Amino acid sequence: MKPLSVGVAGLGTVGAGVVKLLRDNAELIAARAGRPIAVTAVSSRDRRRDRGVPVDGLRWYEDATALAADAGVDLVVETIGGSGGTARALVEAALAAGKPVVTANKALLALHGRALAALAEQRGVALAFEAAVAGGIPAIKAVREGLAANQIRRVAGILNGTCNYILTEMRTRGLQFAEVLHEAQKLGYAEADPSFDIDGVDAAHKLAILAALAFNRPVDFSELHVEGIRAVSAVDIAMADALGFRIKLLGIATRTEAGVSARVHPCMVPVASPIARVDGVFNAVVAEGDAVGRVMLEGRGAGAGPTASAVVADIIDIARGRVTPVWGAGAASLSAAPALPMERHRGAYYLRLMVVDRPGVIADVTAVLRDAAISMESMLQRGRAPGEAVPVVVTTHECEEAAMQRAITRLAALDSVLEPPALIRIETL
Ligand SMILES: NC(=O)c1ccc[n+]([C@@H]2O[C@H](COP(=O)([O-])OP(=O)(O)OC[C@H]3O[C@@H](n4cnc5c(N)ncnc54)[C@H](OP(=O)(O)O)[C@@H]3O)[C@@H](O)[C@H]2O)c1
Repeated sequence: MKPLSVGVAGLGTVGAGVVKLLRDNAELIAARAGRPIAVTAVSSRDRRRDRGVPVDGLRWYEDATALAADAGVDLVVETIGGSGGTARALVEAALAAGKPVVTANKALLALHGRALAALAEQRGVALAFEAAVAGGIPAIKAVREGLAANQIRRVAGILNGTCNYILTEMRTRGLQFAEVLHEAQKLGYAEADPSFDIDGVDAAHKLAILAALAFNRPVDFSELHVEGIRAVSAVDIAMADALGFRIKLLGIATRTEAGVSARVHPCMVPVASPIARVDGVFNAVVAEGDAVGRVMLEGRGAGAGPTASAVVADIIDIARGRVTPVWGAGAASLSAAPALPMERHRGAYYLRLMVVDRPGVIADVTAVLRDAAISMESMLQRGRAPGEAVPVVVTTHECEEAAMQRAITRLAALDSVLEPPALIRIETL
């Protein structure tokens, strides 16, 4: 059978990994795809750079969008990255030309996925993005296809390996955030500009996509509440340990009668929960369906091999003619459930205050919580240093986020509270 001819734009970690995997496993991939798959054209900026894979004999384009117009290319792989610019122009051009697209680009999908999905549907071509969420974990296929019979109530996960690595190292070695970040940058686990990762933006891009699939709603990044891990301190990690929790940066999207909420922030999860044990650079995705119950997938969320594994799986699907609507259902049957703001969130909280160690302080703190109708579950004060700062930790029963934020503002204004209060939400998964 005629090979499927693929054009790969962007020959960095992922793109070169895709070219390599298609060569290394060519025979079994052809068997599974029902036809050979051949890379025939590529695009990257620097023609002289060694890619670790042979690119001789392939058509080379300086301008990536030219791949969309190459009559010899049946399918375009976009592994350039970035939410706009060339990546977006190429994906739009390829879809408009009626060519299926496979991309690993979560930023592009989170910000422009709604319009791109509409274009793909209108042109009747596939837009596939398994690699965009949790790298090598087949999370998209699992949520969109494997759980297609379920009402999905919640989808959540550890969606950023850099953050999970930093939090794991802080806990196991008792280090502060800044020390571990510096080390991670030296090891190549964190970018020179790490803000996308550590401020939760990358995890939020992935959660926006997962939520869209789970709830059959067009992706909308602007509705997410996003916090990163910069404010997590070694004290909180030690306190979490003492209370039987682990701190993880989670993305959590929930659907209730009232609507849909999606949030990314540090969470305390019980040490015995499966997600608490996902450490280091590993990612995990948890989905809860009405028929299936809870499902958890764990694996590598980044790197050439895992990401290429997901990209090539998408190529094989397209070669076989398997095309699924981008958000799991066609545009006409997508949900219009409203987005719920963070203030409406209900949950339990961990609150750490640095207070002056003197009589009456605890009474002031409990009075603020009482006035906000927040019920305490436990209170912990470690160490004594009369007249100096000591941590006081409160865990609460379930309450509303808006009430907790009001209480925090009042607590921060107390004379005896010396630093901005640290708040971490407690989740059961
Ligand atoms: N790395 C991962 O583990 C991972 C995991 C999941 C998803 N992703 C996603 O995969 C995408 C690629 O990531 P990556 O890590 O492979 O990035 P990367 O290593 O920086 O590679 C990007 C490639 O794009 C090329 N490029 C940049 N601008 C271009 C342009 N205007 N025209 C043509 N080529 C251009 C670069 O060319 P030169 O080499 O010539 O400079 C480079 O080869 C991103 O969307 C990322 O979010 C990555």
